[in-house]
Amino acid sequence: MFTFAPTGGQSRAELHADLLEAAKALTEGEPDGIANMANLAALIWQFLPDLNWAGFYRMVGGELVLGPFIGKPACIRIALGSGVCGTAAATATTQLVPDVHAFPGHIACDAASRSELVVPVIRDGAVIAVIDLDSPSPDRFDEDDARGIEALATAIAARI
Ligand code: SME
Repeated sequence: MFTFAPTGGQSRAELHADLLEAAKALTEGEPDGIANMANLAALIWQFLPDLNWAGFYRMVGGELVLGPFIGKPACIRIALGSGVCGTAAATATTQLVPDVHAFPGHIACDAASRSELVVPVIRDGAVIAVIDLDSPSPDRFDEDDARGIEALATAIAARI
């Protein structure tokens, strides 16, 4: 049994620091990328409040393909440059979207989503996946979230 859990009362930056340590510990020594992505999606869901979707899209054959996640069933394939995820993957940059309705080409997988954070996972200079977080609250994500998930993406890039 794993007992990773937020302790409560932390700042957002502290929450991310704890999430990062839990993510490293949870994936250490496990070579199966799918198992690691599944556990990481569950861990993010457990640590970060106010999400309605958390998970991975993987770069497969030049497009993004749905990976392990928590949330409602989602679109399976996303072209590079399309939507928030496709933009993050095509540009290798974090996309912090306070209002998804204002993002040109946003792909609505869950009508409840109002804000979104997508962080590319880069290994050996190439985008191999993105971490996608959706929230039903507008403006849910801030720079602490962006930096925190970027640190997590760096830490797990060799483990997925
Ligand atoms: N909204 C995303 C699609 C993925 S779902 O949110 C899970 C996008 O525009 O890329």
